[in-house]
Amino acid sequence: MTRVTLVEVFKHRITQKYLQRSGINHAVTVAGYAFDLALKNGVDPNLATKSALLHDMGHYEWYRDGKWDYEEYRKHDIHAIKGAERAHKLLIRLGEDRLVAKEVSLAVLLHTDSYLPFDLHNKRTKLQQVVAEADRIDEQPNGLHHYKEMDKGDAVKSLYQLDLKIDHFLQSDGEEMSR
Ligand SMILES: [Fe+2]
Repeated sequence: MTRVTLVEVFKHRITQKYLQRSGINHAVTVAGYAFDLALKNGVDPNLATKSALLHDMGHYEWYRDGKWDYEEYRKHDIHAIKGAERAHKLLIRLGEDRLVAKEVSLAVLLHTDSYLPFDLHNKRTKLQQVVAEADRIDEQPNGLHHYKEMDKGDAVKSLYQLDLKIDHFLQSDGEEMSR
């Protein structure tokens, strides 16, 4: 089975529709961090980068009366739940392996615990930890990381480079992991 690439995922109209809201720059940057962290922690970089790219696709607009209201948004936020569902639907449409789609969906669901009545400390799998950590690295106060700009063409270029690195890693059969 051929791998569904990050570029394919990114170009799909569902991704284009929902990724605009949380910011392409943040999604692509977090995917890059997730690749490095995956290799360091013995996690499949294909799963880690896909989860990272899609982790915030459940966000909706947080403007009220034409004004950005981040605090109000956070109070009602369930973006991880929505994102998990959207990511799963998208990947299945792209012909993704169903187990991969489920793993990615769970990593999206658990990338934050800010909407849960308990914390996920020490409860995440290694993949889920990598995604949460990659997100944290790019985070800025008041959600400003969602407003960094990135041109769509530059995003595709970065993701293409990441795809090459992932393919290279998978072809060498995970040898790098043990080094
Ligand atoms: Fe995020």
